[in-house]
Amino acid sequence: MSDLSTTWLGLPLRTPLVSGPSPLAHDLDGVMRLEEAGAAAIVLPSLFEEQITRDQVQLDGVLGRGAGAFAEAAAGYFPDLDEYNLGPDRYLALIAQARARCAVPVIGSLNCSRLGEWTRYSRWVEDAGASAIELNLYDVPVDPAVRAADVERAYAEVVGAVREATRLPVAVKLAPYFTALPALAAALVEAGADGLVLFNRLYQPDLDLETLRVTPRLVLSAPVEASLPLRWVGILHGRVDCDLAATGGVHDAPSALKALLVGASCVMMASALLRRGPGLLRDTEREMARWMDERGYGSVTELIGSASMRSGRDPAAFERANYLTAITNWAGEHEV
Ligand SMILES: Cc1cc2nc3c(=O)[nH]c(=O)nc-3n(C[C@H](O)[C@H](O)[C@H](O)COP(=O)(O)O)c2cc1C
Repeated sequence: MSDLSTTWLGLPLRTPLVSGPSPLAHDLDGVMRLEEAGAAAIVLPSLFEEQITRDQVQLDGVLGRGAGAFAEAAAGYFPDLDEYNLGPDRYLALIAQARARCAVPVIGSLNCSRLGEWTRYSRWVEDAGASAIELNLYDVPVDPAVRAADVERAYAEVVGAVREATRLPVAVKLAPYFTALPALAAALVEAGADGLVLFNRLYQPDLDLETLRVTPRLVLSAPVEASLPLRWVGILHGRVDCDLAATGGVHDAPSALKALLVGASCVMMASALLRRGPGLLRDTEREMARWMDERGYGSVTELIGSASMRSGRDPAAFERANYLTAITNWAGEHEV
């Protein structure tokens, strides 16, 4: 039987199948269910920068300093956020309970866009007993005066501040849309990231044609989306000095195996577990082991990175050439 064990951020994992942040780990029961179902580590739903700084924002509102938008946000969005992830205090309590009950690593997720006092919270996540921190960095720059370099510098500053605040390993979850992702990845590693989680899935708003209001919308992922992390994990493996995790469209054993082959140390699943239940983890694990046994792979470590861009098997497939080939070879919808 193949050895499925791997490591993520220096943490030993029984298998590469990690449960990514989602409402499935909203409370201790959910966390326990995921562990029993075979999750090798559990990333908790994110705690948002806005929640941590909420008290300050509300105080600013009282003192008349807060922008109207902040006051509106505080009134309109924050209660929903607390319902989603319990709010800052109970979040730390959940980490402590999960630490006491779970054998697998429990990873706290902090979701943020800019530097602030909230980064001190990383220390409290550590004190509560988390095994690592996943920093979900997501900003939406709408001001034409803000340049890509400014945003990227701000991201590196956040990583540096969290690195200083905690001794825990830190993974950074990124959006896919950067002009030169390898340079940003290298800068984040330089600032202290031990791993990159590729990618954050962005939920675009929709427009309601009746009310003409812009409405938030979350659609679970489709398997085809796994090709995006596949490409970028494949490009970054061996080029940046950190672990890589793939997330987005990993719904089954084939997509998990592909992510490992191009260089991921583990995969993080959310949509498929929400849709089909945590029991999917065991099925996926069994199927991965069978595939590896049939091909004589003794361990996951033999797989990791063996088909990355650096491995040299098919480097052009990761670059522009792949785009040209895909377009010119299109032979009908059944090919998609
Ligand atoms: C309902 C829902 C809630 C999510 N909440 C979070 C979150 O709190 N923090 C985070 O970093 N990602 C969150 N995600 C994103 C997932 O962790 C994952 O990165 C993304 O959905 C792509 O993986 P998937 O294709 O397996 O769903 C959420 C996804 C879903 C569907």
